[in-house]
Amino acid sequence: MLNVAIILGSTRPNRLSEPIGLWVEAAAKKTEGWNVERVDLRDWPLPFYQEAASVMQLKGEYSIDLAKEWSKKIASFDAYILVTPEYNHGTSAVLKNALDYLYAEWNNKPVAFVGYGSVGGARAVEQLRLVAGELQMADIREAVHVANPWMLVKDGVFAAEEFHGKKLAALIAQLDWWAKALQAAR
Ligand SMILES: Cc1cc2nc3c(=O)[nH]c(=O)nc-3n(C[C@H](O)[C@H](O)[C@H](O)COP(=O)(O)O)c2cc1C
Repeated sequence: MLNVAIILGSTRPNRLSEPIGLWVEAAAKKTEGWNVERVDLRDWPLPFYQEAASVMQLKGEYSIDLAKEWSKKIASFDAYILVTPEYNHGTSAVLKNALDYLYAEWNNKPVAFVGYGSVGGARAVEQLRLVAGELQMADIREAVHVANPWMLVKDGVFAAEEFHGKKLAALIAQLDWWAKALQAAR
């Protein structure tokens, strides 16, 4: 089995990461061989990175228990889908901070992106691909980009278009391939 995390990349009230993330989760849960878990950053109120040493030097000796729990949680997955907003042409600070807190836990695992915004969160996703490289993650080429998401979310439900579903299916297929390959390699 593969343990797959769907990480909601925003925490504000009325966030769109939740309806879009729930849509991703519903499709992911239909994938054979996947254990899917939603990881909501609202449940992980990590302070901005505040340790006296870098993550690699710390070797898990964080000053706060929540970071130790975050390490255990993220280490338990074989693959990740990041549901990211675009804030000022980048990802959200809360998602970047959550990524920055760990290193080895992300290494040698695949990551896929579902972005949203006026141009489908494309600029945020491209920035995240650079971050993924430094975290030694394999970024999946197939992505879902939801343009103008505020026009597609009604009463807290994301009304996906057919092509969004096709892109998500392609993302899941590639992520599955890479997750199996890297699980075996690890
Ligand atoms: C601080 C901030 C900056 C934003 N910058 C961008 C941007 O650069 N590009 C864009 O397409 N949308 C931008 N938006 C609009 C967001 O795409 C939109 O508010 C989206 O719903 C945010 O995701 P969230 O609802 O999950 O928080 C910005 C929103 C905020 C709050």
